[in-house]
Amino acid sequence: MKHLVANWKMNFVNLDVWLKDFDLNNISEEIKVVICPNYLDIKDLYKKTSETHKKILISAQNLSSETEGAFTGQISGKMLRNIGASYSIVGHSESRLQGEDDETILNKVQTALDCDLIPILCIGENQDEYSKGRTEKKIKHQLTENLFPLKNLSNGVLIAYEPIYAIGSGIAVQNEHLEEVSILIKDLIRDNLGRDLTLVYGGSVTSESAKNLAKVDGIDGFLVGNASLDPKEFANIAQSLE
Ligand code: PGA
Repeated sequence: MKHLVANWKMNFVNLDVWLKDFDLNNISEEIKVVICPNYLDIKDLYKKTSETHKKILISAQNLSSETEGAFTGQISGKMLRNIGASYSIVGHSESRLQGEDDETILNKVQTALDCDLIPILCIGENQDEYSKGRTEKKIKHQLTENLFPLKNLSNGVLIAYEPIYAIGSGIAVQNEHLEEVSILIKDLIRDNLGRDLTLVYGGSVTSESAKNLAKVDGIDGFLVGNASLDPKEFANIAQSLE
């Protein structure tokens, strides 16, 4: 089963217009389509998709590491689950930039699992680490800190490999690099957790770059930011996963 995830970030999307232009009929049954709207649109999107686009699953873009209580401004996994989310992104580089540390991210992955949400854990090196040949070190560090201490992954965790320099840059990574990193991630997960997890790639995926990226062995789908705002372009990306 492949995954195609749309991360709408903090962009305004007219749900009715987007859904009208997103033709699910042409998308294979083998692809799970997951949309991450802003918190305020989750309930509405869930309601609208349950009527017309049943195959679409909903994800939050983040969640609190706490389950309940005096945490002003936070939103819990249980609340998200109650309004229709079944996934949550955790540790996106844009959230890490705002001060999320490794311990918080580990707690968020655990909390998501406890709330019956599938975490989409984002990992990846920055430009400096890439240039200095430290990709492997960074990936190992993030998986060791953000995931491996958790032993019971129940419904599983989706790993999104998102090299930071590829996000929003218009230039996706080279296939050779993606292949090397996907082997590294899958081997580390198998060695440490004794199971396989789904791995998607994110960073300037478009219908054009997807054709090439989809050839990489071990990539089970894409996490798409900017290009997912256009429903026709997003649907075209699905074609490359078939
Ligand atoms: P992008 O974003 O597709 O616009 O590069 C991907 C992401 O940040 O998840």
